[in-house]
Amino acid sequence: MSLKETDNFKLLKSIQEIKEFDLATYEHCCRVARIALNVAKYKGISGKDLETIGVAALLHDFGKTVIPKNILNKPDKLKGYELETMNSHAFLGSFLLKEHGIISDPRILKIIYFHNFDGKTDDDFIEIVKSADIYDALISDRPYKKTLSHQESIMEMQINPNLKKRLDLENVKILSIIENPNTLPQLRPVFI
Ligand SMILES: [Fe+2]
Repeated sequence: MSLKETDNFKLLKSIQEIKEFDLATYEHCCRVARIALNVAKYKGISGKDLETIGVAALLHDFGKTVIPKNILNKPDKLKGYELETMNSHAFLGSFLLKEHGIISDPRILKIIYFHNFDGKTDDDFIEIVKSADIYDALISDRPYKKTLSHQESIMEMQINPNLKKRLDLENVKILSIIENPNTLPQLRPVFI
């Protein structure tokens, strides 16, 4: 079953809410959705499952709309309670989307809840969104870190122990192919 018209409206409103709160978070969510959908498509995922991954990826950081701006945009690495507050955005996002009647699909809520889980899960959809999220964070400019190239980001995901323990390396391998700017466009699956 596909998303109903009312669901689409609620979804657009939520995306707009992210945009109004913080443009960088909104742009990150859009990129993560594109990347996650391409990884999923590369793995042969289609139809409703693809929709589940796309919606979850688009809203994965919805919980950041209730994180104080001084923590969200702090130009240094977060520590202590600030880090705990930031990490709570996954739970908060899933909770708020459910409580406000925006998302009722338990699979979407589960992906949002666990997308920043500090370890691997046995849920391929969570792992796809998580890998797209981490990859985009690495290649993007953040207040506390410099931008990495595609190659450097893939390397970091493969060898950094903190990232390696959280990532499914098959997804990293797929990212290394489909996001590689040197791969011929006709060899790259382009979903959106
Ligand atoms: Fe994110």
